[in-house]
Amino acid sequence: MDKFNIREGMTDEEIDDIVNKALVLMTLKEKVATMTGNNFFLLLLKDHKFGVRAYPGGGVEHLNIPPFLFTDGPKGVSIPGSTCFPVPMARGATWDIPLEEKLGEAIGKEARAQGANLFGGVCINLLRHPAWGRAQETFGEDPFHIGEFGVAIVRGVQKHNVMATVKHFAANSIEYSRFKINVQISERTLREVYLPHFKRCVEDGCATVMSAYNKIRGEYCGHNSYLLRDILKSEWGFDGFVHSDWMNGLRDTTKGILGGLDVEMPRAKYYGRRLVKAVKLGKVSLNSVDDSVRRILRTVLKFTTKEDPQNYDADLIGCNDHILLAREVAEKSMVLLKNQNKLLPFNTDEINSLAVLGPLSDKKNTGDHGSSHVRQRNIITPLQGIKKSIGNKIKVIHNEGKDIDVAQQIAQSVDSVVLVVGYTFKDEGEYIPHISKGLGDRTNLGLKEDDIKLIDAVSKVNKKCVVVLVGGSAILMEEWKEKVPSILMAWYSGMEGGNALANILFGKVNPSGKLPLTIPKDPAHLPYFDIYVDEIEYGYYHGYTLMEKEKIEPAFPFGFGLSYTEYSYKNIRVESTEKKISVSIDVSNIGDVAGEEIVQLYIGFEYSSVDRPLKLLRGFKRVALKPKETKTVSIDVKKKDLAWYNPDNRAWEVESIEYTIYIGSSSKNEDLLATHISL
Ligand code: BGC
Repeated sequence: MDKFNIREGMTDEEIDDIVNKALVLMTLKEKVATMTGNNFFLLLLKDHKFGVRAYPGGGVEHLNIPPFLFTDGPKGVSIPGSTCFPVPMARGATWDIPLEEKLGEAIGKEARAQGANLFGGVCINLLRHPAWGRAQETFGEDPFHIGEFGVAIVRGVQKHNVMATVKHFAANSIEYSRFKINVQISERTLREVYLPHFKRCVEDGCATVMSAYNKIRGEYCGHNSYLLRDILKSEWGFDGFVHSDWMNGLRDTTKGILGGLDVEMPRAKYYGRRLVKAVKLGKVSLNSVDDSVRRILRTVLKFTTKEDPQNYDADLIGCNDHILLAREVAEKSMVLLKNQNKLLPFNTDEINSLAVLGPLSDKKNTGDHGSSHVRQRNIITPLQGIKKSIGNKIKVIHNEGKDIDVAQQIAQSVDSVVLVVGYTFKDEGEYIPHISKGLGDRTNLGLKEDDIKLIDAVSKVNKKCVVVLVGGSAILMEEWKEKVPSILMAWYSGMEGGNALANILFGKVNPSGKLPLTIPKDPAHLPYFDIYVDEIEYGYYHGYTLMEKEKIEPAFPFGFGLSYTEYSYKNIRVESTEKKISVSIDVSNIGDVAGEEIVQLYIGFEYSSVDRPLKLLRGFKRVALKPKETKTVSIDVKKKDLAWYNPDNRAWEVESIEYTIYIGSSSKNEDLLATHISL
């Protein structure tokens, strides 16, 4: 048989025609061969390192049907040299959707330049508890907010004809026990809390889905026909392919294929020969195999034949434009949590000496070293960024703070102090058996004892001390937060993090990030979390919905973040049309410096006849304002986004009740203006 003529610009009909013909021509063995990754271990042996190249799968060489070529993320393309962006949790704190799409485009371009066409780095699992080791890989705790980010990165990546994988489907919010944990979950919780962001991405056209390792209601997600067949493929109409996660994401041949798993990654263990046998024995129908093969070939052909918007030369990898983008994202992601007496920004005319202290002050620290690791050497540390920014203007003394007395003496001798503390990949990240140093999940929700001692010692002798926190999710800080005037949450801020930090500290950039999560005062205020149990119940409430329900005041609320200026909100207007509610508000910058404010819209369900959160985020917008400038910000809410999932009818229902509309600067009621609307 001649090879198919695969060319750029093929129509969907032409692709379907080729797929139909291929399904007739291919033997069972060939079909099954497209349903797995290929040569994974061979490549690993060759490279001696995971993730240094794209891993192939699918493809029918003799028919000219190309393979998919997988690479990881999400803080960039994991193949060496790629731009290392801030982690998704930091990006979630930018609340900047166009910026995330731009970042997705940069990743798409670098993936192509690195020889990959499948980006497995859109992690949109929900942050249920801050101890989750991979919290840094997702965008936050709120399903609506995560959904907006998921769609943005998928769009950006796919613009460059790279298939995006959203992962890990679903309810994968605990790390150490991820291979075995059984998540018990009610239908409403599943539909309203753990799935909406996946649905958004699927409806927006994401090419592939990676199943999670964990079980839901007793069935592994990779075998879970309710999840993969009933919900994803039937209800949501997903027409791409589902591939497994990599270490035993599939554990049974027939259960996998009957469950709706199309591709076993990264190699044939339960598919391959075992699947051929299962078909021959009549345990699996040829139709099921054909359905998977059709999905794989169609998706790969769609993406590999689409006209490219540009060339993808190697000089795109880690290029200057992308480095500048990494810096912009980092600048927009840092959250100023506290700034008493306007300590920040530092005035370089008033400071003669500055101590840069703490174990992370000169560390190349971009977060986890698991599958999300981006192999990039040019990482700007906080100290490097600070030194570069101020040149010789201010004397800088650096000390890691191993000897607290020495650090204290230094602190006493300088005008101001920047103290960088928090976590590294050794404290939180992905759990990979036999490889990971820790348990993946964080064992401590606060800072380490030594960090707290350092803060204590330094703050006693220097009242101009800024604590810069590094980490992938909430860090509890009640023991020390009153001791220092300023606190800045810097996250894992990518290769340009040090420069971004300096720009914020010295006022070249006005901080604008806001928390994509709630920082509680006490671990007791969080949902139950135990990494050693085999089963866990994921309840309807977590994060801000839980705190509001239980009337608990957080240390810092969801959506909170300070600026070097102040904003005022006035004049809320609401208009209702058939399909949407349009809310407008006048936002003014009432301070002296330009800034960017993140306007948040929440809908209150106080009058609902069913148990619902007091309010939920349903819209947000970033707005740039010069000093004394006022802008009208308008946010639309789709009426269908007010629905709850009625498990009795298996349907989404919008109640005809009065809803509260809140709009303002954070989720805290005092920061919001409110009005009502009846539907
Ligand atoms: C992780 C995935 C990752 C895959 C391939 C798995 O263990 O859970 O997120 O994409 O490895 O590296």
